[in-house]
Amino acid sequence: AGYTQSVVQTGLRDRISANGRPQLLSVDQFTRESVGELLRVADIMQPIARRQKVCRVLEGAVLANLFFEASTRTRVSFGAAFCRLGGSVCDTTGFSFSSMAKGESIYDTSRVIAGYADAVVVRHPEKGSVAEFARATNIPVINGGDGPGEHPSQALLDLYTIETEFSRLGKLVDGAHVAMVGDLKYGRTVHSLIKLLALYRGMKFTLISPPSLEMPAYLIEHASRNGHVVEVSNSLQEGLRGADVVYATRIQKERFVGEELEGYTSDFQITAAVVNAYCKADTIIMHPLPRDSREGANDLSTDLNHDPRLAIFRQTDNGIPVRMAIFATLLGVENQIQRNMRDV
Ligand code: CP
Repeated sequence: AGYTQSVVQTGLRDRISANGRPQLLSVDQFTRESVGELLRVADIMQPIARRQKVCRVLEGAVLANLFFEASTRTRVSFGAAFCRLGGSVCDTTGFSFSSMAKGESIYDTSRVIAGYADAVVVRHPEKGSVAEFARATNIPVINGGDGPGEHPSQALLDLYTIETEFSRLGKLVDGAHVAMVGDLKYGRTVHSLIKLLALYRGMKFTLISPPSLEMPAYLIEHASRNGHVVEVSNSLQEGLRGADVVYATRIQKERFVGEELEGYTSDFQITAAVVNAYCKADTIIMHPLPRDSREGANDLSTDLNHDPRLAIFRQTDNGIPVRMAIFATLLGVENQIQRNMRDV
């Protein structure tokens, strides 16, 4: 597509590219330095994200938002982020409303979309499918979640949230104790987040779930190999003690094909009583959302909604500047933002 080829190459885009292309498929593409640079671009985006300033550096550009799996925040916030930078968005949601329902392959879909759009965000239920989509095109492809694989933009906004909350509390990410709770087996947000946080120094990770939902061994080994303390716990109360961040996740019921969900009882639910008994006064409580509000789901309790430690809606708000930073970087316009910013 002409748009991406016409813009100036920048250092950050080259350094986070995958397979020599401006794509965001995995947090493995980042170093400690490059992730910091991307989050500083997100800082620059804040006044535009809040509509205090206007910047139309992506005017004329088109985003294709292809979501073959349910989504509210990832799809809408990627779309809103692109629009905030002056671009336009075309959406397709669900297999039944795309020609994949007629048997079209990922390769053909990707080739076709490259002729219509300047960037594409893809969510698909199969791990590795977004990388397959990216191999067929030269336009920027962003992984909006590939089955139980990764969700890199979520991890970036989660890290941005931790940084922002810690800055307010006078804490550093280095040396933090992060407790992850829930479906650590299928939860792609925690798979990306633990790798991103492993770029920092001296972390402690407590991974709390029933035995059937433990974090995959390769991710535990990755964090340990990078010098971090990793504890696996089957007890919520013990695991939460001393945590600076509690990151709760939903049970990914849609991934249990022919498998019984075992052991996720109310003993794992994060409620106001649990937080008041076991967390610190400055612990931040996060969740990628959606939280499952159905009877018996035992997801993050709504009785924390008015607790200032609950950061979940500050976390969702951070999706906009972080996703704006991802677009600006992959499309090579991040250095044009400040000089093109004007008052509303
Ligand atoms: N956190 C997240 O991915 O939310 P959606 O499924 O609503 O996009």
